[in-house]
Amino acid sequence: MSVVPDKTTSSSLSTEELMNRYVLGNYGRFPVAFARGEGVWLWSEEGRRYLDFSSGVAVCSLGHSPQVMVEALAAQAAELIHCSNLYWVRQQAELARFVVETMMERPGKAFFCNSGAEANDGLIKLARKRAWEKYGAESGKNVVVTCRQSFHGRTLGGIAATGQEKVKVGFDPLLPGFLHMPFNDPATLREAVTEKTAAILFEPVQGEGGIHVATPEFFAEAARLRDEFDLLLMFDEVQCGAGRTGDWCGWRTVLAGSGAAVEPDAVSWAKGFAGGFPMGALWVADEHAAAMGPGTHGSTFGGTPLACAVALAVLGEIGDGGVLANVKRQESRIREAVATWDFPVLSELRGVGLMLGFVLDAQAMADVPGFAASGKTPSIFVVNAAREAGLLTVPAGETVVRWLPPLNVTDAEVDEALAVFHGVLSTLSGR
Ligand SMILES: Cc1ncc(COP(=O)(O)O)c(C=O)c1O
Repeated sequence: MSVVPDKTTSSSLSTEELMNRYVLGNYGRFPVAFARGEGVWLWSEEGRRYLDFSSGVAVCSLGHSPQVMVEALAAQAAELIHCSNLYWVRQQAELARFVVETMMERPGKAFFCNSGAEANDGLIKLARKRAWEKYGAESGKNVVVTCRQSFHGRTLGGIAATGQEKVKVGFDPLLPGFLHMPFNDPATLREAVTEKTAAILFEPVQGEGGIHVATPEFFAEAARLRDEFDLLLMFDEVQCGAGRTGDWCGWRTVLAGSGAAVEPDAVSWAKGFAGGFPMGALWVADEHAAAMGPGTHGSTFGGTPLACAVALAVLGEIGDGGVLANVKRQESRIREAVATWDFPVLSELRGVGLMLGFVLDAQAMADVPGFAASGKTPSIFVVNAAREAGLLTVPAGETVVRWLPPLNVTDAEVDEALAVFHGVLSTLSGR
């Protein structure tokens, strides 16, 4: 039997059939395939239009196929797509400058890779290498403390760092040297940290774990421990960074007005960083950058001219186009509207900027017709209902529905999403 697919047969198969036949089944997928996107809108293969408040899970910062990205891609692709890191790369240097001077506004160095998990692997390597150089291998200073319910990616480093059992099952032996402490519990964080701790790593706003915002007290204790134990304080801004909270840096939004001004030693980004072009990045403060000298780390595709040109265009638009202010404005508009809603199934709206979690009441959901029989979690059940009504959202954990619209979403688009979601919750509530 030929292993080469017969083109006539395969093109007559639906996308679902092709996926099932040829693609590894490592994702549970919602039953729709998209053919086209423009701004906040997606069109399915059947031609149905959806309002996309998932943005590829916080990736499409400027919506689908924004002009600025299309132009940057075409222009740079025509000049130079790839160039090895054996050479100087102009676009990479310009992007690193943007990260250091505009996003971080602190002296440091950037490194570019291809995903969030890879960026976090880079942070973990950085923390261990820096401690090894300063204290020696015999010090055993290599432990990375992370948080429960965290998510740091699917590489072996990422799953070891992640504070959720479900991502680790069956992958033993895991990378050793990680401790997972309760999020937002300064006292247990202090108990966990010792002379052997190389770093504390956490998400300023936990995304996959259900939209949990770190408290100023947690930041402050982590910073005190950094100073006492000479460890690195590292933030995973893969989901909450690069403008999603209404500031370049998620932790600065979270800490604004709290009186606490905590700054990290290193940060990771991905997702929205290049608006949908696959890219990860990290920044490390100048005083720790020497740990990653020649030969310590690398990536064939990290920081190509194409990726960097696109990231520069996307980040430039976010910075210049009033997009950060729009994030805060739309957050307020959503909060104001949702504050007037009264549904037993909705217990809370939490989050920062346009990283918002609608928290469902599991008990009230039990009374929703069809829910028990569906065998779904409350979040998946509601995400399905919203999708059927034309609005794409994302589950986070069992009870949270995330809204992650493009950062340049308009008043009219937010109003439409509010109307659709209100209608969905009304229907579920039997009204
Ligand atoms: C906070 C955080 N870190 C890391 C990752 C992993 O990123 P990637 O899927 O690009 O490897 C994610 C992905 O959801 C994330 O939300």
